[in-house]
Amino acid sequence: MVGFSHPNMKPQSVLPLACVLRCAAAAAVHPCRADSFTNPVVYEDYPDNDVSLGPDGAYYLSASNFHYSPGAPILRSQDLVNWEAIGHSVPRLDFGGGYDLPPSGERAYRGGTWASTMRYRESNGLWYWIGCTNFWNTWVFTAPDVTGPWEKVSQMEGGLCFYDNGLLIDDDDTMYVVYGSGTVSVAQLDEQGLLPVRTEVVFTADDANVDSIEGNRMYKINGLYYVLNDRPGGTTIIWKSESPFGPYEHKVLVENVAAPVEGGGSPHQGSLIETPEGDWYFMSFTWAYPAGRLPVLAPVTWGDDGFPVFVTGDNGGWGATYPMPLPEVPTPDWLRTYTFEGPDLEPTFEWNHNPDVSSYEVNNGVTLTTATVTEDIYSARNTLTHRIHGEFPVGTVEIDFSNMHDGDRAGFAAFRDQSAYIGIHRDGDTYTLTAKHGMIMDEWSSEPVSPGSIVAEEALPSDTTRIWFRQEMDARASGTRDCNFSYSLDGETFETFGPTYELYDGWAWFIAYRFGIFNFATKAMGGSIEVKSLVVA
Ligand SMILES: *[C@@H]1O[C@H](CO)[C@@H](O)[C@H](O)[C@H]1NC(C)=O
Repeated sequence: MVGFSHPNMKPQSVLPLACVLRCAAAAAVHPCRADSFTNPVVYEDYPDNDVSLGPDGAYYLSASNFHYSPGAPILRSQDLVNWEAIGHSVPRLDFGGGYDLPPSGERAYRGGTWASTMRYRESNGLWYWIGCTNFWNTWVFTAPDVTGPWEKVSQMEGGLCFYDNGLLIDDDDTMYVVYGSGTVSVAQLDEQGLLPVRTEVVFTADDANVDSIEGNRMYKINGLYYVLNDRPGGTTIIWKSESPFGPYEHKVLVENVAAPVEGGGSPHQGSLIETPEGDWYFMSFTWAYPAGRLPVLAPVTWGDDGFPVFVTGDNGGWGATYPMPLPEVPTPDWLRTYTFEGPDLEPTFEWNHNPDVSSYEVNNGVTLTTATVTEDIYSARNTLTHRIHGEFPVGTVEIDFSNMHDGDRAGFAAFRDQSAYIGIHRDGDTYTLTAKHGMIMDEWSSEPVSPGSIVAEEALPSDTTRIWFRQEMDARASGTRDCNFSYSLDGETFETFGPTYELYDGWAWFIAYRFGIFNFATKAMGGSIEVKSLVVA
């Protein structure tokens, strides 16, 4: 799985011998990045990052994951390059209708967490997460430790939406939130940081001669207030003022640069970060569907005018490589085999909508008991997902299906608003290996467009109870967008099943493909499968 010859590895710069030796000695750590690093720093869909320094000197990245539960994933790094998933700020999408995929048919696709903010507040030792979810209420979650327990402490109702918000905790402990789309406001919060006490519009998109502006972050640097935001599509703008409430002057930080990955979009939203040495970095993300929105890092310097200046890479744009910001501190590899010891899932797993917690158990495998009677994978509860990784993601799941019931559908999906799967349909006593492609929802409204169709089927031998399913993708924005499904009855020899599925590269759903492990009933609940392992390669 892990090694210098892995097909997912992008070429790294030349490694010093010491580094090679260190890497060779360290099994199961991220391949050594030596003196330079390669973008994206995480080849996975972790959009809308808000990166900040924790009390322990590590960096924490909060991201969006929309209708996936738990919400608002958190990554940690010591060096800004090697990141690991450590938890979520929103334990459950407890925002009202749709998030539990109720029998009424209500759903919450594209709801949930997006463009939120997370910071540590020293004065009371609490982490804050603030986000406008579910169009349009703002929620505040806090936690004594970044890994939890996170708790919902406040809801700003009645249309008070801190759209694309960034939190600043000032030197005197005052909390400010910058937010807005087109028109940007700064709100000063009360002492607990739960409600606004003063709100002012500070500038509009017109002030920067652009048609729209969003993705707001706020910083205090050398006694001055900065707002970082973007015109969607390709331009990052930085604003500066002596007061949190303005007046602000602005400059363009990055405009329509070449992306560090072929076919990716110009990075244009994210976070400014300072290292202990006083060096500065901009963590943004490149739009690279079908792989998603991938975090990318670049250095910035400071001009005499007090504005940051983007450092172009050797491609004349956002570099594919830059020097390491800090001495490398390896983290566990993103590519690994999960065997689900339990009792909890690792934080790289998220459910499609809130899970029915009584219908799954993690104990040396994940038992997925059917939780919905439906014909529609998008209405089924307890689809367990994992982000795809890298340019050529491969996922292999091992499933014991001996307790499937009549009418149950279980399998392994390339899952987003346009999905396909390989799985087993049980009807009566017949177990049919099935490939189904083209389950489509409207990417804006999430209304059903197509229920999909069976593109291959074959009866399984009657003595079989265990099966391996595999997906092999070309997820590059510039790639073929192939997804090939295969299966194995012994875990060794895999047989292609069904035609190649073409991954969708639209962006409007805001979430990339995931490996989705599902089990739902079409007749009656009660059956189950056991997921023995998932290999993410
Ligand atoms: C998918 O299968 C086709 C046909 O065998 C092959 O040409 C293509 O390279 C495969 N793609 C991936 C990503 O495995």
